[in-house]
Amino acid sequence: MNQAVPSLENLKTCRLGVARKATDPCSIVIFGASGDLTARKLIPALYHLCKENQMPPDFRIIGFARREKTDASWREELRQALDQFSRTKPIDEKVWQSFAEHLFYCRGDLTEDEAYRKLGQQLASFGKEPLRRNLLFYLAIMPSQFGEVVEHLHSAQLLQKANGNNSGEGWQRIVVEKPFGHDLESARHLNWELTRYAGEQQVFRIDHYLGKETVQNILMFRFSNAIFERLWNRDSIDHVQITVSEEMGVGQRGGYYEEAGALRDMVQNHLLQVLSLIAMEPPVSLDAESIRDEKVKLLKSIRAMAPADVARQVVRGQYFAGMVDGELRPGYRQEPKVRTNSNVETYVALKLFIDNWRWSGVPFYLRTGKSLPVSTSEVRVQFRPTPNVLFAAECGQNLDTNALALRLQPNEGIYLRFNGKVPGTSLEVRPVRMHFSYDAEFGAYTPEAYERLLLEAMSGDATLFIRRDEVETAWQIVDSIRGNWDGKPLTNREFYSAGTWGPVAADDLLAQAGHAWHEPVVGFEKRSRAEAAK
Ligand code: BG6
Repeated sequence: MNQAVPSLENLKTCRLGVARKATDPCSIVIFGASGDLTARKLIPALYHLCKENQMPPDFRIIGFARREKTDASWREELRQALDQFSRTKPIDEKVWQSFAEHLFYCRGDLTEDEAYRKLGQQLASFGKEPLRRNLLFYLAIMPSQFGEVVEHLHSAQLLQKANGNNSGEGWQRIVVEKPFGHDLESARHLNWELTRYAGEQQVFRIDHYLGKETVQNILMFRFSNAIFERLWNRDSIDHVQITVSEEMGVGQRGGYYEEAGALRDMVQNHLLQVLSLIAMEPPVSLDAESIRDEKVKLLKSIRAMAPADVARQVVRGQYFAGMVDGELRPGYRQEPKVRTNSNVETYVALKLFIDNWRWSGVPFYLRTGKSLPVSTSEVRVQFRPTPNVLFAAECGQNLDTNALALRLQPNEGIYLRFNGKVPGTSLEVRPVRMHFSYDAEFGAYTPEAYERLLLEAMSGDATLFIRRDEVETAWQIVDSIRGNWDGKPLTNREFYSAGTWGPVAADDLLAQAGHAWHEPVVGFEKRSRAEAAK
């Protein structure tokens, strides 16, 4: 008898009790409005929020920058940027027209009082109280300018330090971008500068990885499924690999990269954020502070590394010229604005231990690099082997161990690798995959990270932003590694050809414990379908 199988579409979505706070009418002021970030990310994100009817009931956006522009010329410029950078095309004319009416330009020099007086007048001209009182200041400028801007905003009475809850006279929030300092000391200084005139709850530090759907799904996946969380510990998990690889080289960003390097640019923020979500304990509730408390606890449990441990557990690398995707790419030292004898790392691999009850003894391998064979971000959880009897005794090393991969981008999804019997009369075991794909399940709707982050900042939910102690703890980890590299030139073993998976030393790092990197395969799901069809 055929039993009706419930289709997935009929399954109910559970809306979480934690509804997003209603977003009040507000004005967004973007400092650095002529910059790349505004054109590429912020305006396209705000346009899409408008298109999806997610913006507050009323809002204004003021672009603040030094260049001479009018409202009309700024709108025109942004329209062209949108044509180029929007994730959906063509641009919806009706939505754009109504969005553009909310865009205004304020010309001013960040260092002059007069500019802030003008900004104040412009905000006052909006008439409605909430548009003058609820202010989101987006600092798309150099971190060295944060302190000055915040001080001016305070003197112009546009920014009031809130203690605890809002005073009822509206709210003001500051959104800042990375790099948030270049070491612990500079991060502490920035934090001090910002919190002189704003409470910690008014400061929203962005790590755009937290705005990615797949990264947000990590907590959902871990804590809403009974079957995985039970295995999520040292008893079942052998090790974890986190890979964030980029096919592109440093390109035009040599000037910035020479000061940053892969450790500051990627590990201090994105990789440690992903690690903390993968490994943290369940929070007591879903509110911002409970989640961030657990993330900080996790970061604090990462075992500190003495110089000898750094030498053993951390590998750096730099690419030289090589073929990527059939094209000859220059080496890092040949990139524009890079010193010809630069020792800056474009690749880092590290082995970390988390000294807590759950993870004691389990290595976490993290790696990131530029000019690698593919761009992909993936977390791979490698389970322990079965006891050495039955199949394991027969097949030895050839019997695959179970693995779970969370593909953060591209081909977003999750797959579980386990063993299956090859059909036929012989006893043959082969690894097979069970695969969940975001695209197949939910369609192609994938909002950009900035859409979510801007929305959360407007509604005052700080869950997806980095708290002061989080940023400082992450710098502590990174500083202990950097200190060990200072003054030491790269050795031959630390160079890798563009288009390969990094220096050989990174393979040795895993081989010490009998492990090996698992290279993420982009587009594997298409290939496995083709394989299955054979
Ligand atoms: C940025 C880094 O924070 O993240 C860049 O500064 C890097 O160097 C980028 O390319 C990667 O982000 P994504 O979203 O493309 O993985």
